[in-house]
Amino acid sequence: MKIVEKLRLGRLATFILNKRLPVHNWFYFKEAFSRDLVLLLAETWGLGEGDLVLDPFVGCGTTPLACKQLGVDSIGYDIHPIMLFASRVKLRDYNAEELGEAVRGLIKSKFERPEVEVPSFVARVFREPVLEDIAFFKRKILEVEDEGIREFLLLGLMNAAMRCSWAHKDGAAIRVVKKPVPPLRKALKRQLLRMCGDVERFEGEASRVTIEHCDARKLKLADESVDAVVTSPPYLNKREYIHAYRIEQQLLDLGAPAQEQLIGVREEGAVEDFSEVGEFVEGKPLETKLYFNDMFAALQELYRVCKPGAKVALVTSDACSREGVVEVCVPLSELAERAGFKAKRILVVNRRFCTTPARKKVGVTREGLLLWEK
Ligand SMILES: C[S@@+](CC[C@H](N)C(=O)[O-])C[C@H]1O[C@@H](n2cnc3c(N)ncnc32)[C@H](O)[C@@H]1O
Repeated sequence: MKIVEKLRLGRLATFILNKRLPVHNWFYFKEAFSRDLVLLLAETWGLGEGDLVLDPFVGCGTTPLACKQLGVDSIGYDIHPIMLFASRVKLRDYNAEELGEAVRGLIKSKFERPEVEVPSFVARVFREPVLEDIAFFKRKILEVEDEGIREFLLLGLMNAAMRCSWAHKDGAAIRVVKKPVPPLRKALKRQLLRMCGDVERFEGEASRVTIEHCDARKLKLADESVDAVVTSPPYLNKREYIHAYRIEQQLLDLGAPAQEQLIGVREEGAVEDFSEVGEFVEGKPLETKLYFNDMFAALQELYRVCKPGAKVALVTSDACSREGVVEVCVPLSELAERAGFKAKRILVVNRRFCTTPARKKVGVTREGLLLWEK
């Protein structure tokens, strides 16, 4: 297995390039990779009509949305309700005229003071009038019968609400940073009109897309049914994505992901068999053991559903712990081989210093694009 440095691909492993892309930017997910990574891989692999691409850790839907642009069928699975919601809204086919009508109707609606009932962690990041506006528009949106239009409007409201909030995210922590914010109605109008414009601008080809709740360790797919996989599992030691969206979850009435479905997470006292990943995790902390055990289960599932010759690209990173760097790119590729894949190469796309809480540098972590083949 070759390890090749390709730092010029580094931005492709981040969300940065998606920030300017219609529809891709309807949900800001720091842990996402870029559309252009998927387009590059699809071109390199020669994917086209009739192929099926899987992303078993779909996040905010980057892989299927890029596939939709190319007219390639795709399936995206995740266990996080807000990711599934965002992916669904981004991937739906809309009637621009109906959307425009719904948006105009909503923006024009006459304000009636609602009852506001939100938990204190939500109340503290909004001014009172903003909270009232959110509650008012949410009630109006929930009256919309068409599920597609309703969810589109709700995503728009969520984005506008966060734009008018004092929430400042710092990993999983949410701090209150008081600053001037625009009136919610104005932010909502801007947001929804921009999203409507995106619907008209987005150039997609006819293709089939499935977005579903599914644990990557138990894929709801037949053996040998997938032509290619582009994915990025949760990173070891990086759990922000579980907690960082609690305000948005509350605004959308969505729950949190179930604990037992999270990669590398267990209830206290759960008994675990690590025999399949034994030498990879010997002497490692429990968190690392659980992570590799779960990832091995996911890799075995991937192998099962891939057609012979299928290509896999997986973005991941070494982790940083108090003790120093925990390698992930290499052991995960070795586990992929154990699952049956040929691990072709690791493209190192980013290098980052690993620092202790006291800011002492204790090594360098590598973010990699792991390329395998069945
Ligand atoms: C690094 S993010 C993926 C980002 C994605 N590539 C994108 O561009 O948005 C990892 C995702 O894995 C999901 N996840 C965690 N455990 C999972 C499991 N057991 N099965 C499926 N998805 C899972 C998380 O909810 C998260 O959305």
